[in-house]
This record gives sequence, C-alpha cells and structure tokens, in this order.
Amino acid sequence: MKVSVIIPTYNERDNLEELLQRIDSALKGRDYEIIIVDDDSPDRTWELAQKLSEKYPVKVIRRTEEKGLSSAVIRGFKEASGDVFVVMDADLQHPPEKIPELLERVENGADVAIGSRYVKGGKVENWYWYRKLISKGAILLGRLALPKIRDIKDPVSGFFALRREVVENAQLNPIGFKILMEILIKGNYERVEEVPFTFGLRRAGESKLGGKTILKYIKHVYRLMRWEGELDRLIKFTLVGLSGVLVNEGFLYAFVRFLGWDKILANIPATELAILNNFTWNDLWTFRDLKRNPLWKRLINFHIAALTGAVVQWIIYAGLVLLGVHYLISNLFGIAASFIVRFLVNRHVTWG
Ligand code: GDD
Ligand code: MN
Repeated sequence: MKVSVIIPTYNERDNLEELLQRIDSALKGRDYEIIIVDDDSPDRTWELAQKLSEKYPVKVIRRTEEKGLSSAVIRGFKEASGDVFVVMDADLQHPPEKIPELLERVENGADVAIGSRYVKGGKVENWYWYRKLISKGAILLGRLALPKIRDIKDPVSGFFALRREVVENAQLNPIGFKILMEILIKGNYERVEEVPFTFGLRRAGESKLGGKTILKYIKHVYRLMRWEGELDRLIKFTLVGLSGVLVNEGFLYAFVRFLGWDKILANIPATELAILNNFTWNDLWTFRDLKRNPLWKRLINFHIAALTGAVVQWIIYAGLVLLGVHYLISNLFGIAASFIVRFLVNRHVTWG
C-alpha cells in the first residue's frame, strides 16, 4: 500500500525541513511520497522543497496560475500515485507522528480517518475560550445544516487520511478551505473514523486563514446544503408552514362563524388541524425519502417539534420584550427561532 502525503504550502519555508524529517521518520519502512503543492510562495518554499527532494521522496508542484488551499489539495490528489492519501498542514500544527495511526485505521477498513481535535483525547493548544467557541459553533452549524456529517466531531480538520477511491471520481469544488467537509459531502465512502490529536502551535510563519473566514465558511455550508438538497427541503418546509397558516385561519373562522364555537377554545382544534396538514405535506413531500421511523413515531415527533417551537418562540419573545424590544419585533424573532427549531427537530429526529 503506497502512501501519498499531500501538503499545501504558502510561505512555509522555515517549517519545511523539520516537517519532512519528521514525516520521514514516522513513515520509515513504508512506501511513500510527499507532494508539496506550493502557490509560488514569495519566501520561495518551492525552491527549498526542490532542494530537499534530493534527500526525501518529494514531488514539488509550483503553481503560478492558481491559488487557494482547497484547490491545492485537489491538485495534490491529481498528482498523487499512492493508494492512500494523507493531507496535512506544513506548519507542524499537525504532528507527523500521528500519521501511522491514521493509516492503521484505513488499513483496518476505514475509508476516511480524521485527525480530530474534538473527540475524547483530542485538544487544541493555547486557544482562548472564544476561539474555541467560534470553532465549535461553526462546526455545530455545519453538522446541523448537513445531516450527512452530523456524527462527525471535527469535519473541518485539515489533517486526514483516505483511500484514493473516496475522492477519485468526486466532483470537488476547489473554492474555499474546508476541503474535508467538501469530501465528506461529495466523496464515495462508508466508514469514517476519528483519531484524537493535539492541534499544536504553529512552528514558524503565520496563519493564512484570517479575515472573512467565517463568512466564507457559511457560504461553503450553504453551497453544500444546496448540493445535498437540504435547501430544497427548507423551502418546501416553509411553503408547507405557510399552507398551515391558511388551514389554521380557515378552520378557526369556520368553527367560530358557522359552528358558533368559543373563540378561545376553537383555536385548539384549528391549530391541531394545521399541524396535521403540515405533517401530511411534509411526510409526502418535504421528507418523503426519509421515512425510517414508523408513522406513529413520526406523528408524535412532529408534535414534539411543534411544541418545542412554541416554547422557544415564547421564550425568545418574553426575553426580548423584557430587554425592551418592541413586542411585535420580539414576536418576529420568536417566530424565526421557532421555525428554525422546528425544521431542525423534524429533519434530525422525526425524519432523521
Ligand atoms: N498552496 C496553498 N495555497 N497552501 C495554502 C494556502 C494557499 O492559498 N493557504 C494556506 N495554505 C497552507 C499553509 O501553508 C499551511 O500549510 C496549511 O495550508 C494551513 O494553513 P494555515 O494558514 O496554517 O491554516 P490554519 O492553521 O489557520 O487552519 C488549519 O486548521 C483549520 C482547523 O482549525 C487548516 O488545517 C484548516 O484547513 C483547518 O480547517
Ligand atoms: Mn496552521
């Protein structure tokens, strides 16, 4: 089994020698190659890499026409001749000594083995609490928006190993920098495993992933939601919800006007009928391909989602009113929150 270690670089000259030396000791006795994809670094990383190729099995790609982390990794996949690919950063935040463990997982049947900061035993060195919070919040967002990766604790890691077949025929988008997330959505794989590691400190140089990172990440998640058809579901769910408003109002009117029911009490059956209307359309349309739970369970869960949404709506409403926000504006925020909560509970639980 030949291993190709793919390393995107941009101004990593001062890390290169130690990196290659440590990879070489970690992979002693194995058939391997290192592919360095450098975007014409001003510090001439590519030049040093070429020099070091006399000592280590390094292939250097110096790109002058293209730029970007994800596209560099994809280029690496194209140039690689191994059966297993390892992707890692050049700045030694990913310890080369962990590579054998990732490879063992693949040898034992995993299609993708992720070096993970967020499984038991993994950690991040020297991050302020708010950095961790942003990182974990971003990951949570991705996992909620993309049910396919919801069980993966660190789907944005830049340190992973995979079988060639996983990416060989996948239509990976070269935009962005979360290449692993792209692979986990579009790749061909069954088994994913996470191996804990400590995301260390950058040895030399500085991080390239600065400004607008979060915005770009959200855009990436949005693109993948579209690819997955999750955005279509969200739109369908919204339309169904609107139809429910009509049903609710219609029955309320009929009960009060034609049957002479009490206005306060008539609201209850009108709401239940709207819930049943929404359930039916969501079951037949929005989530029609996802009927793993029996009907009675889906029905109960749908009601639980509705109830949870109502509670959330009220809490947000009351909270904002107490903070001095206008009550009608507060209610809009409450409705929006309720909508998101109901969609997520239904997507992940009712039709999960
Ligand atoms: N060829 C190329 N082109 N390489 C790049 C580019 C680029 O445009 N931008 C960054 N790199 C290389 C860097 O030289 C480094 O080897 C690696 O990609 C990671 O870049 P860093 O700038 O060190 O990223 P980071 O430490 O902020 O982020 C890392 O951790 C994230 C998780 O917190 C990366 O591994 C991310 O992929 C990962 O999501
Ligand atoms: Mn880094």
